Amino acid sequence: MLSNHTIQIIKSTVPVLEVHGTDITKRFYQMLFTSHPELLNIFNHANQKQGRQQAALANAVYAAALHIDKLETILPVVKQIAHKHRSLGIKAEHYPIVGENLLAAIKDVLGSAATPEILQAWAEAYGVIADAFISVEAELYDQAERQSGGWTGFRAFRVERKVRESDVITSFYLVPQDGQAIASFEPGQYISVKVEIPGETNTHMRQYSLSDAPGKPYYRISVKREEGIKGNPDGQVSLYLHNQVEQGDVLWLSAPAGEFTVNLSDKRPVVLISGGVGLTPMVSMLHTLAETNPGSQVTFIHAAQNGQVHALREQVEELALRHSQVSVYWCYEKPTEQDKMLKAFHKEGYIDLPWLQQVVPTKEASFYFCGPIPFMKAVNSALKEWGVPEADIHYEFFGPSSSL
Ligand code: HEM
Repeated sequence: MLSNHTIQIIKSTVPVLEVHGTDITKRFYQMLFTSHPELLNIFNHANQKQGRQQAALANAVYAAALHIDKLETILPVVKQIAHKHRSLGIKAEHYPIVGENLLAAIKDVLGSAATPEILQAWAEAYGVIADAFISVEAELYDQAERQSGGWTGFRAFRVERKVRESDVITSFYLVPQDGQAIASFEPGQYISVKVEIPGETNTHMRQYSLSDAPGKPYYRISVKREEGIKGNPDGQVSLYLHNQVEQGDVLWLSAPAGEFTVNLSDKRPVVLISGGVGLTPMVSMLHTLAETNPGSQVTFIHAAQNGQVHALREQVEELALRHSQVSVYWCYEKPTEQDKMLKAFHKEGYIDLPWLQQVVPTKEASFYFCGPIPFMKAVNSALKEWGVPEADIHYEFFGPSSSL
């Protein structure tokens, strides 16, 4: 239990965190990787380079500090991060390492403003926050271990098939090398893939949504080839998977995780909206809803740049043909001449509210969406403008979470 005095100190340093939050976490990562270079094997270097992870961690610490006397109010956020941590194999013994380096970074950035009293208060608060994470994660490890076909850590999977889905997206069908059962999952969940790229010192991990329905003897991931654009580096792992991993190769996977899942007991209409490679969890949700929930009406809307980069189209259309309760709509930002000739899309440009109101039968529905951040912002504000209650709006960020 933190004393009132400690809580007051923590709360009064929140404005300081606001100003220095990102500097502190940047410094923290430098210190962390210098003292524990082995942790470079579990952090995503691209997120580090783009500062996205710094922002995510800074926001999480800031949120926790604001709610330090009632951490239960941020439990949903803790749970979502804990899923990610469990999927990456973060353990209780990692927390003191992070805590020590975080405190050292606070001291370094704030200088004499970080009095011993403030540092002591933060050490205590970090302990409370870390305990909350550790106990939620312990439960998740336990569930992953106990689930039929489940496991903890990383398990070897063989690439049974590699299928090109569009100019930029390729699916990998993965079967366990031990030939044993694999854990079921909730549509919308992801797995972490750990790879050793030839010539690289560290291993790399990435999360990919499972793109098929559960209950199959394989997991399927559909990976976008991330070419570096606008000054961003190439996606090291996605290029490796596309260019070097072939049928018969082995990938190491952690068990399915994540909280962005479709509520299968909800009998109301469901609207799935995706942009680009954000369609992967949506396709899993669609397959599952169509196959297990024939009573519920599903509207599947996908936005792509054009037909060339539109993945899994035939599969989704074929599913809609077999299930009359499923309707599908394509929105192309810049259709090609061929797309125009084939009338391959329903809307040109971006998804907007007037169009959504035409194609979505009712706003009394559950809405799920995933895609690039500007796309998510646009969809979120369109739904809000339409008056869809917050409780019916569900979304997931690829990469570190931020806010819409
Ligand atoms: C991801 C917070 C402890 C390793 C994250 C994210 C947040 C976060 C907000 C982003 C989640 C997302 O992707 O949506 C925290 C907080 C911690 C903590 C508040 C302490 C109380 C740790 C520890 C480790 C760790 C002890 C292991 C040394 C990671 C890694 C990621 C991550 C590897 C994935 C992101 C990446 O690779 O860039 N954490 N974390 N975290 N965390 Fe933590």
